[in-house]
Amino acid sequence: MPATAEDLKNIPRHIAIIMDGNGRWAKERGLPRTEGHRQGAETVRRVTQACGDLGVEFLTLYAFSAENWKRPKREVDALMKLLEQFLRIKTPEMHEQNIRLQAIGRLHDLPESCQQQLHRSIESLSQNTGLTLILALSYGGREEIIDGVKSLIESVERGHLDKGMIDTEVFSKHLYTRYYPDPDLLIRTSGEMRLSNFLLWQLSYTEFYITDRLWPDFAKEDLEDAVRAFGRRHRRFGAL
Ligand code: IPE
Ligand code: IPE
Ligand code: MG
Repeated sequence: MPATAEDLKNIPRHIAIIMDGNGRWAKERGLPRTEGHRQGAETVRRVTQACGDLGVEFLTLYAFSAENWKRPKREVDALMKLLEQFLRIKTPEMHEQNIRLQAIGRLHDLPESCQQQLHRSIESLSQNTGLTLILALSYGGREEIIDGVKSLIESVERGHLDKGMIDTEVFSKHLYTRYYPDPDLLIRTSGEMRLSNFLLWQLSYTEFYITDRLWPDFAKEDLEDAVRAFGRRHRRFGAL
C-alpha cells in the first residue's frame, strides 16, 4: 500500500535498523554471501532516500557489529571493501540529497583506508541539513556503555563533573550517540527477535517492528509499512 497523507502524520523522528539477512538472501539464490552484502548496500541507498523523503531526521543503520569481527576473514575483508566503495561512490549522491553523515562505534578498529574514506565522507557532507545518516560500525552496545563509563570517570577525575551529578541525562552525554535523540522506531529484517548488542541504552522506550523480509529485498513499501505500524502504536513511557 502506498503511503497516504494520513499515514504520514506520525513520522518517527529517528529510525534505527538492524539490517539482517544478506547471507540468507544470497544462499537462497546459490550466490556467495558477499553478493548478499552487495545487494544490501543498494538497499541502504534506497532506504536512506526513502527516509529522507518521508521527513525522518535521523536514520541509524547497524552495518557492522563488534561481534562481526568473528566472521571469516574473507567475509570481513569483503565487507570493509564494500563499505569503503559505498562511501566513495555514494557520497556525491548523498550530497545531492542534502544528507549528513555520522558514524558510531569503535571506528579505530576499521582498516586505515576505510577510516580515511569515512572521515572524508563525513567531512564533505557535514554542512548538509537534511536527514542525518548514522552508520554503526564496529559497534557494540555493551562496549559503548563501557566507553561511556570510562569517559564519565575521566570527567570526575579531572574535576569537570561531581559524582553526585551523574544521572541518566548526564550519562547519555557520554555515549557515542550524545548528539542524537533516542530512536523512536527500531526495524529488524529477517525475523530474528533479538537486539544483537545494538543500542542497548538508547532503545529503552523504542517501538520494535520485526519483518521476515530479508534486507536486500527490503523496499520503500516495507519501510512505509513499518512507519504505518508505528503510527498506530500508543507510546506510554511508563505513564498512563
Ligand atoms: C547482515 O546480514 C549484514 C551484517 C551482519 C554485516 P548477515 O550477513 O548477518 O546475513 P544472515 O543473517 O547470515 O542471513
Ligand atoms: C546484527 O546481525 C549485526 C548487524 C546487522 C550489523 P548479526 O547477523 O550479526 O546478528 P546475530 O549474529 O544473528 O545475532
Ligand atoms: Mg545475520
